[in-house]
Amino acid sequence: MTNILNRLTFKYLFITLVVVLLFQVYFLLSTSKIRVTSSESAIIPILENNGDITTNSIERKLTTTTSHHGGGGGESTTLENDPRNSRNNMRTYYKRGVEKSKPSKYTKDEEDLIKKQSLEERTKLDQWIIDEYYNETHMIDSLPHEYKYASVPYYIGDYLNRTGENWTTEYTSNTAWKLDPKLNPLLLPYPHIFIHIPKTGGSSLGSIVKRNYNKGHFQHHWAHPKVDVLKDIVKLDGIFGHIKYGLHFYFEKENNTRVPVLESNLNKYSYMTMLREPVDRVISHYYYHRQNRKDPGHALAMKNSLKEWLAASPAANNDQARMICGFGYDFNGNNITEELAEHHLRYTYKYVGLTERFPESIVMLSHYTGYQSIRYTKINSGRQRVSVSEIPQDIIDEIKERNQIDIKLYAIAKEIFELEIDKIGRDLFNVEVEEFKHKIGGAFKKSTTTNTPPIVQKS
Ligand SMILES: *[C@@H]1O[C@H](CO)[C@@H](O)[C@H](O)[C@H]1NC(C)=O
Ligand SMILES: *[C@@H]1O[C@H](CO)[C@@H](O)[C@H](O)[C@H]1NC(C)=O
Ligand SMILES: *[C@@H]1O[C@H](CO)[C@@H](O)[C@H](O)[C@H]1NC(C)=O
Ligand SMILES: *[C@@H]1O[C@H](CO)[C@@H](O)[C@H](O)[C@H]1NC(C)=O
Ligand SMILES: *[C@@H]1O[C@H](CO)[C@@H](O)[C@H](O)[C@H]1NC(C)=O
Repeated sequence: MTNILNRLTFKYLFITLVVVLLFQVYFLLSTSKIRVTSSESAIIPILENNGDITTNSIERKLTTTTSHHGGGGGESTTLENDPRNSRNNMRTYYKRGVEKSKPSKYTKDEEDLIKKQSLEERTKLDQWIIDEYYNETHMIDSLPHEYKYASVPYYIGDYLNRTGENWTTEYTSNTAWKLDPKLNPLLLPYPHIFIHIPKTGGSSLGSIVKRNYNKGHFQHHWAHPKVDVLKDIVKLDGIFGHIKYGLHFYFEKENNTRVPVLESNLNKYSYMTMLREPVDRVISHYYYHRQNRKDPGHALAMKNSLKEWLAASPAANNDQARMICGFGYDFNGNNITEELAEHHLRYTYKYVGLTERFPESIVMLSHYTGYQSIRYTKINSGRQRVSVSEIPQDIIDEIKERNQIDIKLYAIAKEIFELEIDKIGRDLFNVEVEEFKHKIGGAFKKSTTTNTPPIVQKS
């Protein structure tokens, strides 16, 4: 009797197990939808998953069978020396198990040498950046027509004229045309160098970006690369992260014909970035430091109140301008930061997004890069985030006072953003944004990154 009961229990357990397994497989597959898009003669599957880490292994398996055209999901993430390798972030961002930092392949002496050489390289780079700036300011005077913004090309042919019957479905149902420079004059050449300014929503962005390069052709860096990895970086198609402006000097050394020279002779590399309203960004940065124990800025933020931290941390003082220039915290030429940052924003960066308008920024990015897979889920947002309206007015005022350059840059970025939309064509753009928001549905509604409350002025 008990024997039969045991056998029955076993049978039911077994069936339950099979059902659960089947359900899991179904769930995995359904979160990783594969859209098939025709492109020239080949039919290539283009992955459209929501960035969920659980689909990574499937994604990898599938992308090994896809051809190029940017639909693949190659990634090569540098996690060593990652100051932001806190468990909370990495768990949402990378597959479990991958997050453990590997033992260093260098001896202590070698590491010290790399550190020293990297510092020397930074000093050289600062000088190159300034020299390039002076060279370019002279060049601008001799340009044949007013050159307003690098991200808003002077002439882009018939691109604007998305008119006629069915043009919306034609251009949004199959986006492979975005990869064709003849059909998409906004398409930027490789290498794409994406400067991720801290707390501008870049981690959600990073999850999209890394899916859109072929395996081994993209790297995500959490700090500016040290000298020992530069030789690998100059072979990439895309690099993203808290890197500083200036990597193009190394790409140029590696192969100065890789990127076609611009008519204007100004910097030809595909620099991209996203800016955020400065007061909001500073507050967000402070709380981010506090909640991430492994962050290099953690101790300072824990020791100080927000008000004290404003005076103590360079991150609270025009950090966006510094990143756009390519200067480190230790750079002592701050009298040039303002004009140089503005120069870069106007004449160098080929795409400028806005954190406050994240879905629009992503759709816009797809026009500049040809990205085919642009879904995302929100990651790396500050959980202890205090809303701006809870911050006393005197602190808000002080942040504004200390971030005059960033405030000016942000105003320019907003102007650029509107012009970028005009170049794409507002009708097409609006249809795409609506479709995109509909597709990402839940992710968009849940996201605080995209729903950042406006700065409420208490006066
Ligand atoms: C600036 O221009 C000078 C003279 O043409 C040139 O030798 C130098 O390499 C340029 N520097 C940069 C960083 O572009
Ligand atoms: C746009 O295309 C339409 C129809 O093809 C044409 O009539 C119109 O002149 C074009 N407009 C511009 C500005 O090229
Ligand atoms: C536009 O779409 C409708 C419905 O799908 C179709 O009947 C019509 O032929 C299309 N027009 C053109 C010009 O493709
Ligand atoms: C440099 O880039 C050009 C254009 O992509 C390519 O044709 C050439 O082979 C490259 N040269 C080297 C040495 O890689
Ligand atoms: C910035 O300071 C340096 C050194 O003090 C000086 O040589 C340079 O002319 C200054 N630049 C500007 C734009 O004021």
